[in-house]
Amino acid sequence: MTNKYMIFIANWKMFGGLNSLNTINSVNRFLKKFKYKKLIKIIYCPPSTLINPMSVKLKNSKISVGAQNCHENQKSGAFTGSINTSMLKNVGARYVIIGHSENRQSGESNELINRKIKSALKFGLKVIFCVGETSQERKKKFTNKILTKQIKLGLKKIDNKKNILISYEPVWAIGTGVIPKTKELLKTINFIKKKFKNYKVLYGGSVNPKNINQLKNIDNLDGFLIGGASQNSKKFIDIIKKTYN
Ligand code: 13P
Repeated sequence: MTNKYMIFIANWKMFGGLNSLNTINSVNRFLKKFKYKKLIKIIYCPPSTLINPMSVKLKNSKISVGAQNCHENQKSGAFTGSINTSMLKNVGARYVIIGHSENRQSGESNELINRKIKSALKFGLKVIFCVGETSQERKKKFTNKILTKQIKLGLKKIDNKKNILISYEPVWAIGTGVIPKTKELLKTINFIKKKFKNYKVLYGGSVNPKNINQLKNIDNLDGFLIGGASQNSKKFIDIIKKTYN
């Protein structure tokens, strides 16, 4: 049982159409009645196509909306298919995920991530900054080294602990159903918290209603970034309930 402030982020990835917005109704109803509602923050990061309708729907709700990525350029320009941070803010996003491993894998560098974070902060978006090692890096015991590099370069010349949430997402745990052992995760989160003081640190990677009982024992965590399970409101609510049970 926890009694601390926790953040629950739903990353819908490339899933969902207008119909999916209905799933939020039950989460909204749940939140209104939840005994620990003052202690929790819920953020939905749907695909870009749903940011506006979702934020309109959640206008009077405590649930916030975020984007899953952004372009580095603050000014509009000829960048086919891209959306910048001021455009995201304009349609209702308050947060943006930056540095997700699914984007790092397609070539996003630490330097580009740094520029994106600066752009997001400039336009008043809060940043969900993802870091994490691959399974090969883990096997070589490079986890701490990789995390230090990703965080140092990603946050170069940035000092904004209030508006950045660091989300530790080991690449090998994303979408695999496998999560780190409690001791290992505790050690890694402690490492990040000691090295990058006063940042909130979340965990992401195969979080579901079954393993949340294990994950909630990591008492230095500030929340969870949830992919697959967040598309199902029952599972998402279950995760939140069990965290406080
Ligand atoms: P899963 O919860 O589907 O493993 O995804 C985690 C993730 O990548 C969240 O950003």
